[in-house]
Amino acid sequence: MEKLILVNLKMYQTDMAQIENYLNKLKGKRLIFFPMIIHLERFISHNFTCGTQNISIHESGAYTGEISAKAAQNIGASCTLIGHSEVRQNFNETDEIINQKIKISLKNKLIPILCIGENLNQYQANQTKIIIKNQIEKALKDITEPIIISYEPLWAIGTGKTPTSEEIKDIIDYIKSLFNYKIKVLYGGSVSQDNIETLNKIENVDGFLIGKAGLDVSCLTKIIEVVQK
Ligand code: PGA
Repeated sequence: MEKLILVNLKMYQTDMAQIENYLNKLKGKRLIFFPMIIHLERFISHNFTCGTQNISIHESGAYTGEISAKAAQNIGASCTLIGHSEVRQNFNETDEIINQKIKISLKNKLIPILCIGENLNQYQANQTKIIIKNQIEKALKDITEPIIISYEPLWAIGTGKTPTSEEIKDIIDYIKSLFNYKIKVLYGGSVSQDNIETLNKIENVDGFLIGKAGLDVSCLTKIIEVVQK
């Protein structure tokens, strides 16, 4: 099975001409993009598989500033990130809200990509498995449909730091052991052209969720070459 490469563009890209240039250079590459919502249709028109970075718990109505799963699906989105640590932090998103978001995305045929991970204190206190199990149990309460998980230690996002290969393998094995179906588990957090060879050797990782390194066409091309060779 080919590994997935997901690119979370966060709120980085603000210039349309640069975006057009970026998309043209990456034409035909097997990538799944999470652009800013206002760029979603542009990415889809370039034939890329795309998702949203977040989703509302409501389908439609008087919810200024929100993103409807139904509307996203209607314009061609196929998945959505849910529970990204930046959304958890910036919007006070709880595990209960995350559970509702997963339900509404499944209802609207968007594949939910649930982001989970421990913070630095929890990592140092050796609590990673407890934290992750709790996040998964709460996020997936009353949900039986398959989803995708991205393991993203908070202390690895945007810091240039990553856990060791052994640590990532151990946590991903643990996550997979919590499911009675074959779940895809990705790794995210400071994936770059410099560490991709090492990370790609971890046998149980089903793909990568890439932030910063995904903005640079040459870094991303190197990552694609390693992962999809
Ligand atoms: P990063 O971001 O690759 O810049 O660490 C990953 C993410 O936030 O998904």
